[in-house]
Amino acid sequence: MNVLVIGNGGREHAILLALRKSKRVEKLYCMKGNAGTARIAENVDVDYMNVAAVTEYAAAHPEIDYYVVTPDDPLAIGLVDALESMGKRCFGPRRNAAVIESSKAFAKQLMKKYKIPTAEYEIFDDYDKALAYVKSHGAPIVLKADGLALGKGVLVCQTTEQAEEGLKEIMLDKAFGAAGNKIVIEECLKGLKYNPGEEVSVLAFTDGKTIVPMITSCDHKRAYDGDKGLNTGGMGTFSPCPFWNKKLEKQVLKKIMIPTMKAMNAEGRTFKGCLYFGLMRTDKGMKVVEYNSRFGDPETQVVLPMLKTDLMDIFEAVTEERLADINIEWEDGACVCVVLASGGYPVSYKKGMPITIGDVGEDVTLIHAGTAIKDGQLVTNGGRVLDVVAKGADINEARAKAYEAVGKISWENMSFRNDIGLKYREG
Ligand SMILES: Nc1ncnc2c1ncn2[C@@H]1O[C@H](COP(=O)(O)OP(=O)(O)O)[C@@H](O)[C@H]1O
Ligand SMILES: [Mg+2]
Repeated sequence: MNVLVIGNGGREHAILLALRKSKRVEKLYCMKGNAGTARIAENVDVDYMNVAAVTEYAAAHPEIDYYVVTPDDPLAIGLVDALESMGKRCFGPRRNAAVIESSKAFAKQLMKKYKIPTAEYEIFDDYDKALAYVKSHGAPIVLKADGLALGKGVLVCQTTEQAEEGLKEIMLDKAFGAAGNKIVIEECLKGLKYNPGEEVSVLAFTDGKTIVPMITSCDHKRAYDGDKGLNTGGMGTFSPCPFWNKKLEKQVLKKIMIPTMKAMNAEGRTFKGCLYFGLMRTDKGMKVVEYNSRFGDPETQVVLPMLKTDLMDIFEAVTEERLADINIEWEDGACVCVVLASGGYPVSYKKGMPITIGDVGEDVTLIHAGTAIKDGQLVTNGGRVLDVVAKGADINEARAKAYEAVGKISWENMSFRNDIGLKYREG
């Protein structure tokens, strides 16, 4: 089979690396890809947000048998629908199911209707009513722009003043554009040991009939050590989550994952693909913080390297709705991903810095997030540049290997966190 993966980042490189291990995959393509994906796939220079351009490309390339649509934005505009309507086989939800991520208001209403545990909330499209609610409710309180906002549309407000300011930014100043036409205002969840509560990401394969959780992971969203600085796309991840266990998995499957799959079916929005559950352990049990309609970045970078089963077999089983027949197996041990970023990220940073890479050893995989080749030289081409991924018997061993490799990589003003994998140590 010839397979094309849509997207440009570390997540797509990780998916390509997993597909490359498949016995059945012949040639890989990546639209548009980066310098890392170019090593194992043919990069295709087509704008994937231009649906007509993608379908035109697909029509001209009948040799491509399967499309994997990964980023949230092409899913939200219906790229899978467009490819399927021309007879192409795809991995990824249709537009009417991708709404579980692209509208936070939709996701909250779904959870309320089907009694899936989540934070209490109200939805507003009127600024004055939202403001009155914030004033009467007080802090702490959480504001969420309804639409896709590059992971920046959520404000956890510790004071009422912060919340009033945030409300103005989202609803009046339109800091996130039309994503802020509607707003979800939520109760701030409390954790068992930490505040806010302990978070875990659980990605799951689902074909609408069966849902199979992958191994768990945790991410580090803030720019600097000790969770200081601004929110980023993610500065690192590790797997598995320290407080996860079989009992919790059973409970989450029963109370959250299966009910979500069934709810989407009942709404006529069957979800096929990778459904991502952003969960929080709270003083009142496990709750859903959000859904994503796709693989997470950089969660995928620590999950897929542990997959023993052929990923292409799983993708096809999802497409053909026979996921129940597949036995999905994972390696024991742990995996850590340290993100190397451009200094100044996520605010402002330079691109085009030459990257030097020494011998990182065999146990480490370098996944490319934002790289390019300029005059034959590997250079930085984004905020998040490289993902250093290492496996080990446990998190400590994986961490040690990853950070040893980090020491062999450099460019002007490279930045990273030193504390990836140290979260939730007490379990
Ligand atoms: N109700 C809540 N209570 C406390 N913290 C929250 C709540 N909702 C979200 N958060 C925090 O904000 C982060 C971002 O929220 P999320 O809904 O995942 O949006 P997105 O990932 O689209 O930015 C979460 O990872 C969590 O740390
Ligand atoms: Mg999130």
